[in-house]
Amino acid sequence: MKRRRLPIVLSFAAVLFLPGAAWADLPMTYLITNGSAANPLAHLGWGLMGLSVFVIVFIALAVLIGIWRGRRSWPMDAAGRPKLLPGVNAAPFVVIGVCVSIVLLFGSAVWTFFTLAHVSQPPKDPAITLDVTAHQWWWEVEYKHYGQKLRTFVTANEIHVPVGEPVRVRLIGTDVIHSFWAPELFGKMDVIPGQTNITWFEAGKAGVYRGQCTEFCGLQHAHMAFHIVAQPPAKFHQWWTHQLADAKQPVSPQAQHGERVFLHHCAICHTVRGAGSPDIVAMGKLGPDLTHLMSRHWLGAGTVPNTTGYLAAWVENAQSIKPGIAMPTMDLTNRQLLDVVAYLQTLN
Ligand code: CUA
Repeated sequence: MKRRRLPIVLSFAAVLFLPGAAWADLPMTYLITNGSAANPLAHLGWGLMGLSVFVIVFIALAVLIGIWRGRRSWPMDAAGRPKLLPGVNAAPFVVIGVCVSIVLLFGSAVWTFFTLAHVSQPPKDPAITLDVTAHQWWWEVEYKHYGQKLRTFVTANEIHVPVGEPVRVRLIGTDVIHSFWAPELFGKMDVIPGQTNITWFEAGKAGVYRGQCTEFCGLQHAHMAFHIVAQPPAKFHQWWTHQLADAKQPVSPQAQHGERVFLHHCAICHTVRGAGSPDIVAMGKLGPDLTHLMSRHWLGAGTVPNTTGYLAAWVENAQSIKPGIAMPTMDLTNRQLLDVVAYLQTLN
């Protein structure tokens, strides 16, 4: 008998254990949150799930008790159907059941309305405003203002923020509908061409939070990720100051040659502030701003890590990593490729 029960026990253990094991590895979960824009939503989610489980268990028990009691021989009529017994009135149970359901559903609705109203506005005026523009398939991020400072710069796919400060995000659509979501930090907000949607978030503790486009937007929808890097305010300020600076001039002959190749092959689509000469500059707007490329941890909107190997592969043939993107396959010689990569790696 024990042996027959073993598979059942193991299955239950697996069902209980798997979500826990999976959570530990998942970069995106909305059940463990951080920050004042997401925590109330997680509490609501857990609360509604607990309530649902309670209702299911309660109803299942009631059905089981009914079946158990029905086993005692119920009188049947001549046609073999259960006889209605005089004096047994089920109406009060129906009324009680309907009333309990109404109270629980109404309570859930009120709780949901209050929670959504609560997270619709930040607790204080945001210190930072970002314009996030969604493209197929990457995120352009423009820092519009930070405290009293109005100096701006543009980066891509990696958003740095100070811990404990609300950040306002203005979402701008360019091509199709995308959706901006970092589940540990805030609820989803669609990015719709022709309209600017506004959301906000606040990271309660330092860390790297993964975000993802959650509206199907074409071939590379799944590779349209981003990262939010929450840092202590002093570190964030350091990062912000560094991002404002132009790119440094390359020093080594290899990187200098790489810059010339870059200006002729890549600058039509990419910006590197401070690169080139008055005759030829890198001011392209089609692709991500690369002024501080090496300060970013990922390439291709979270598709591959920013290592030398992946960077070279990306420059040479980005289509092999992310088919369908706007970046064409570059026709570079080995020498040109190595030198461009050497140049890009000076953009720290
Ligand atoms: Cu952008 Cu899906």
